[in-house]
Amino acid sequence: MIIKTSIHGQWSSRVAFILAATGSAVGLGNIWRFPYIAGENGGGAFVLVYLLCILLLGLPIMIAEIMLGRRGRQSPINTMLSLARDEGRSPLWGGIGWLGVVTGFFILSFYSVIAGWTLAYLFRAGGASFAGLDAEGVSALFTALISDPEKLLAWHTIFMIMTVMVVARGVQSGLEKAVKLLMPGLLVVLVLLVGYAAIEGNFWQGFAFMFRPDFASLTTNSILLAMGQAFFTLSLGMGAIMAYGSYLSSQASIVKTAAVVVSADTLVALLAGLAIFPIVFASALEPAQGPGLIFVTLPLAFAQMPGGTVFATLFFTLLVLAAWTSAISIMEPATAWLAENHEMDRAKAASIIGGVAWFLGIGSILSFSLWANYTFLGMTFFDTLDYLTSNILLPLGGFLIALFVGFKMKISSVQEELAMRQRWLFYVWYYLVRFVAPIAIALIFLRAVGLI
Ligand code: TRP
Repeated sequence: MIIKTSIHGQWSSRVAFILAATGSAVGLGNIWRFPYIAGENGGGAFVLVYLLCILLLGLPIMIAEIMLGRRGRQSPINTMLSLARDEGRSPLWGGIGWLGVVTGFFILSFYSVIAGWTLAYLFRAGGASFAGLDAEGVSALFTALISDPEKLLAWHTIFMIMTVMVVARGVQSGLEKAVKLLMPGLLVVLVLLVGYAAIEGNFWQGFAFMFRPDFASLTTNSILLAMGQAFFTLSLGMGAIMAYGSYLSSQASIVKTAAVVVSADTLVALLAGLAIFPIVFASALEPAQGPGLIFVTLPLAFAQMPGGTVFATLFFTLLVLAAWTSAISIMEPATAWLAENHEMDRAKAASIIGGVAWFLGIGSILSFSLWANYTFLGMTFFDTLDYLTSNILLPLGGFLIALFVGFKMKISSVQEELAMRQRWLFYVWYYLVRFVAPIAIALIFLRAVGLI
């Protein structure tokens, strides 16, 4: 049985879906996480592997996820269950949906904490707190924030409530308009920041850091991290894009849509890097300093540029919005499932999910202060969640999705849903999903644990 529309509603147009999926993809992953992980992994070679992962794993798996969602028309758990049934496969494939829901809780819990930092910085920017600060001053400001669990808890709580409020009302209303303003705004601000970095920063050193591959610095672990970042930044592997795909009309071209989303996301990440690294090198900051990177680098630029306060306020406003449209999508799969299976209204479902993730977030908050010394394999609570979700759970989800689409669905079902006119392109995609993606993910995993 094929359900034509989802009970949760449908996007008003293909453009609305592109906006929503781009809103999901573009977020802290591009502007906060990409530069700091690239910085920790030596730049160039990491960026190259990341781009390869985007193209060879990310794009094909995004197409697969949207396709599954649109064919199943329900929350990822029920979509996978019903597709497995339609294809005569084991209901265990519903596990892809379950894995995604668990992964989503973990991600949302720390995502909201970091989004809280951006809220805090929005208020600092508006209050002109960066004006006149030097590198030491901005670092001190950041340290003061993250070592104050009460402040972090307040911002985390506010952000989580903001997210629950939107998800409770259904993701379609409002999201479209928000993203329509957000994306062009974000692009303009980032281009201006890159311009500033080009004039005032050490642009070529930053550029070379990002694009001159030094393969000696490429460890097995950094390959795993590059793959994890590709999944995280495209919102893949946990059903967020699948859930959004289930609200997509049957006429829209999935492949073109995915290509637009992936390009926009990659552009934003690269621009963020080009804005940040020239400033890092010009001010002799440490590119490998970790999660605080943009919170130290950018305020320094804002402190010194003319009109810095206004510009900083604009930047952090856009960053908060970008994080918000992403967090909404992380919450969607679990919310849609609760609403479907427990006859719950969305408001109640979203509040429950938000509450659990909020509670888990407290662990991340404490890991920057009171729990900083409690580590597991050298990683704090926050580091562990971040590492486990991005580098293991999301690629694992992607691996299972690729296997299901590549081997468990009839090729005729897949062809019917994708309705691609160019046969060769279909086979390129199919080959990537069936062989390249699962084998590459498996090899990277095996190598990371030292088995090959
Ligand atoms: N892609 C978003 C970002 O870059 C974060 C995000 C939203 C996400 N939905 C997701 C990450 C689903 C993993 C899975 O900020």
